[in-house]
Amino acid sequence: MRLLVLFFLVMSVLSVNTFGQRNCGSLEYQKKFAQHETYSTSKSPITDNIAARDTLSDETINIPVVIHVLYNLNEQNISDAQILSQINILNEDYNRLNADATNTPSAFQKYAGKCNIHFCVAKVDPQGRQTKGIVRKYTSKVCFSMNDNMKFANAGGDDAWDSKRYLNIWVCNLQSNVLGYSSLPNDRAELDGVVIQYNAFGNTGSLRPQFNKGRTATHEIGHWMGLLHIWGDNTCGNDYVDDTPPQTYYNGNCPSFPHKSQCSINNNGDMFMNFMDYTNDECMNIFTNGQKNKMRKLFALNGPRNSFLLSNVCDSSNANNIAGPSSNEAANKPVQSVTIFPNPSSSTINMIPVNGYDLNNNTVHILDATGKVLINQKIFSSNRSINISSLKSGLYFLKIGSGSDQKMIKLIKN
Ligand code: ARG
Ligand code: ZN
Ligand code: CA
Repeated sequence: MRLLVLFFLVMSVLSVNTFGQRNCGSLEYQKKFAQHETYSTSKSPITDNIAARDTLSDETINIPVVIHVLYNLNEQNISDAQILSQINILNEDYNRLNADATNTPSAFQKYAGKCNIHFCVAKVDPQGRQTKGIVRKYTSKVCFSMNDNMKFANAGGDDAWDSKRYLNIWVCNLQSNVLGYSSLPNDRAELDGVVIQYNAFGNTGSLRPQFNKGRTATHEIGHWMGLLHIWGDNTCGNDYVDDTPPQTYYNGNCPSFPHKSQCSINNNGDMFMNFMDYTNDECMNIFTNGQKNKMRKLFALNGPRNSFLLSNVCDSSNANNIAGPSSNEAANKPVQSVTIFPNPSSSTINMIPVNGYDLNNNTVHILDATGKVLINQKIFSSNRSINISSLKSGLYFLKIGSGSDQKMIKLIKN
């Protein structure tokens, strides 16, 4: 069903060490090969009772997108700006408007394809309500693997929106060496879409250095539209695209042109700057006309993505006048707080974090009923107890944190 995870060996080591990523599952070296080159034409994907449309010409194909942001840590709750930067990148890359198109070696320029595929953020949700097209949700999952849990609300993720009308993009923390993965055109509707690592999404925000130009989503959406890796996932394999030259295997980092490999058919060598290779974001800049045609075919009559030609969910005038849940309402991050134990106490109290409250390096104040500070103590995750035996019996307040994070807890000394 889904394609490939990549294991940039070097990358994974870098990402674990350099960026101090928490251990997020074991390193999995999985790789799945795309088996289904063809798709069934027996069933029409059109579910609406509107007349089917075909696209044989080069008309613009519009793809409404919903972005499901799943975060465990606040840094994973990426900004709207980061999300919109990714949508802009898709609109450049799929229309040959990327500024680095000029970096395509001149020998390959003639193959470059302007796919004429446009991405827009949904303005109407599946219930017909107004939406921002962004769902933000706290998850208790520290990270996700490729088992699709992020696609199900009952597994710590968020359910797909109707995959006949929306491209679902889940942005979350994937186990350390995975940048993203995609479903294939005929996968189950609930699994349909792409999953992207939160720090390899868009080109603004805090991003992994080699994957900071939004090309992970460009690549994964290429899979979502039926493209295979340029090396055909095999030694000198076939990607079923005529104008991408055969190459021995994938390329990483940033080779310089020409980069010949064992099965090169001429001196131009590998098209390592193709979005469907494994080079760094800043070195990728081209889809070919062959890739363009292969992708667009999915939208033709009886193709698995034909229904998108009728999707009107980016046009807010198609929404009813009910406002859908706002991103904030959709967020259900539990309140982080602190409890103390025992309470009442005669000698020592211990601070207990609730829902991941960070106690390290926090100052605790104990105030009497008039607000006078009687104890002022720094606490650390290694030492969370406070001796209150000096206090007279009675009612006190324990204060921790500041601003909107401030907590006041009643404390009884006996
Ligand atoms: N892990 C991804 C996949 O195999 C490829 C990563 C895309 N590469 C990049 N430079 N962003 O589908
Ligand atoms: Zn891939
Ligand atoms: Ca080829």
